[in-house]
Amino acid sequence: MELAHAQEIFEQLYSGFSGYDIARSEKERMGRQEAATTYGEVIPAAFHDVMLAASPKEGEVFFDLGSGTGKATILAALTFPFSRVVGIELLPGLGDAARQVLGRYDAEIRPRLPPEHQRQRIDFIDGDFLIQDLSEADVLFAHGTCYGPELMGKLTHKLEELKPGARVVMAGQTLASPELVFQKMKVMKTDWGSALAAVYQRR
Ligand SMILES: C[S@@+](CC[C@H](N)C(=O)[O-])C[C@H]1O[C@@H](n2cnc3c(N)ncnc32)[C@H](O)[C@@H]1O
Repeated sequence: MELAHAQEIFEQLYSGFSGYDIARSEKERMGRQEAATTYGEVIPAAFHDVMLAASPKEGEVFFDLGSGTGKATILAALTFPFSRVVGIELLPGLGDAARQVLGRYDAEIRPRLPPEHQRQRIDFIDGDFLIQDLSEADVLFAHGTCYGPELMGKLTHKLEELKPGARVVMAGQTLASPELVFQKMKVMKTDWGSALAAVYQRR
């Protein structure tokens, strides 16, 4: 769907709550104050622009590694012809918020969209992306500006196991691995400032 139409739907779905407030209270509740749980969100046009650099193709599967309230995942579903989109999030309160948004999308918006959107599978999974199965992923996004060196080391090893040809859009960090071939770099505006987003392809 056109970005402008996707943006209208996106604004409707996300009006009325703050991912920042949910993240703050979830971090306190879970006792997770590590840098990696620092919250931040994509903005539609900038996210769309960096995703174009990964050349998503019809029927491919998208994963957001650290999906927050699901903004990148929902935008990926609306604007690219993925057969499945998956958000994985560590803080369950953020995952709950994403599933609430998905519930509204399924009830109020999806029924009036074309068949390709009816067929699309959208999942929000609670958990650590380091221990989730990513073997189905063709295009992955990680908004990881605050992911520390240890997490980035483990994530890099995890991404080395992706299927050949899979693309990773890594915002705020770089990936150093002979298995992940650098393709492009873009500036991605976010709701908190801007990050460099690098696109890699699994060899
Ligand atoms: C900067 S936010 C990005 C949210 C969303 N992707 C976006 O761009 O709008 C990063 C998210 O990653 C989550 N996160 C950090 N480490 C994680 C891990 N190991 N597994 C799953 N989620 C993680 C954080 O809790 C946070 O919600």
